[in-house]
Amino acid sequence: MSLAGQQVIVTGAAGFLGGALARRLATDGAFVKALARQPQKAGYINQQPNITIVEGDITDAQRMKEVIQGCSHIFHVAAALGGNYQKQYPINVDGTRNVMLAAAEAKVERVIHVSSIAVYGYHYNGDITENFQQKPGHVPYNITKAQGEAVVREVGAQHHLGYSIIRPAMIYGPRGNAWTATLFRIAKHNPTPFLGDGHGKVHPIYVDDLVDFMILSATHPAAVGQAFNCSPDPAPTWRAFLGGYSRLAGHDSWLSIPPIIMRPIAPIVELFFTLRGEPQELPALVDFLQASKTYKMTKARDLLGWQPKTELQTGIDNCVPWLREKGLLT
Ligand SMILES: NC(=O)c1ccc[n+]([C@@H]2O[C@H](COP(=O)([O-])OP(=O)(O)OC[C@H]3O[C@@H](n4cnc5c(N)ncnc54)[C@H](OP(=O)(O)O)[C@@H]3O)[C@@H](O)[C@H]2O)c1
Repeated sequence: MSLAGQQVIVTGAAGFLGGALARRLATDGAFVKALARQPQKAGYINQQPNITIVEGDITDAQRMKEVIQGCSHIFHVAAALGGNYQKQYPINVDGTRNVMLAAAEAKVERVIHVSSIAVYGYHYNGDITENFQQKPGHVPYNITKAQGEAVVREVGAQHHLGYSIIRPAMIYGPRGNAWTATLFRIAKHNPTPFLGDGHGKVHPIYVDDLVDFMILSATHPAAVGQAFNCSPDPAPTWRAFLGGYSRLAGHDSWLSIPPIIMRPIAPIVELFFTLRGEPQELPALVDFLQASKTYKMTKARDLLGWQPKTELQTGIDNCVPWLREKGLLT
C-alpha cells in the first residue's frame, strides 16, 4: 500500500533523516506537512512539490494539535541527539507525548516513531533482537530514547492508536553528520587512526533503506504495535566501513591504536562528561568498538518481508557528490 494522496506529517523534517523521508513521501505522491522548529534550516525540502513547511516545536502541545489535525499518518522523527538529560527529556519524552496525544485526538491511522538501537545500551554482545530488555545505562540520549518509546506504547494503548517503533542503527548517507561527514573526516587521515584493528562490528544503515522501511511500516498491517531494529544483518566490520571512506579519500592505510591505552584514560574523560551532566559511558564505548554484535533483522524479514538493500560500498559511493559539495572530498 502506498501513501499517495494522503496528508501526512514528518516531525524533524529539516534534519537529516526527516528531510530524506519528506522528499521520498512527496515523490511517492503523499502531501507532506514538514514540521520544522527553525524553517530557515529546511532548505533541502523547501520549494519541493507536495511539501509544505510548517513551523512548530514538539514541546508545544497546543501547536502539535493544530498541525497534526487532518493527517492520516505521523512520522515522528524529531529528537534531541545531544546535551544533558534536562535538555533531552522535554524533547525526547514530553515532546513525544505531545505528538502521541495530538495523534490520538486527530484519530490518525498510524504513528511511526523513530527510536534508536541506543535503547539496548552498550553492554550486550552477540545477536540482539527486539525483545531484549532495554539497558540504556547512564547516557541521557539512551535513557530518553527508551523513555520516549515507553510513552509511545503507553499513549498508544490508552487511546487505541496504531503505532510502530523503528530502532535505527547508525544512519549514514548524503547529509549525514556523525556517520558520514565526521567519519569521513577521520578516514581522510592517512593512515586512518582507530581503536583496535577494526575487526569489531559496526552498524551502518543507509538512509534510503531506513526511509523505505519506515514507509512500509506505516502501511503494513503486521507492523502495528511492533518495534523493529533497522540495521545491517550481518553487520560489517569497522575496517570495511571506515576503510570504505578511506579508499574514497585515496588511501587504504590503518593505524591501530591499542584499546589497552584507552582503557585507563576513558574513565578520566568520562568524569569530565559526567561533571557536565552528559555521561557517555566511555569505557563501555571502547569495548563497543571491538565487540562482535548484530542487531538482528529477523523480525522485519519474517513479519514484513523486508531487509536492507543497499550494499555498503554502494551506500558509501552514493555519498560522493555530497562530500564534494561540502568541500570534504576533492
Ligand atoms: N543519526 C543517527 O545515526 C541516528 C541513529 C538512530 C536513531 N536516530 C534517530 O533518528 C531521528 C533523526 O535523527 P537525525 O540524524 O536526522 O537528526 P537531526 O538531523 O539532528 O534531526 C533532528 C531534527 O529534530 C529537530 N528537533 C529537535 N528538537 C525539536 C523540537 N523541540 N521541535 C521540533 N523539532 C525538533 C531538529 O531541529 P533543529 O535543527 O531546530 O534542532 C532537527 O531538524 C532522531 O529521532 C534520532 O534519535 C538517529
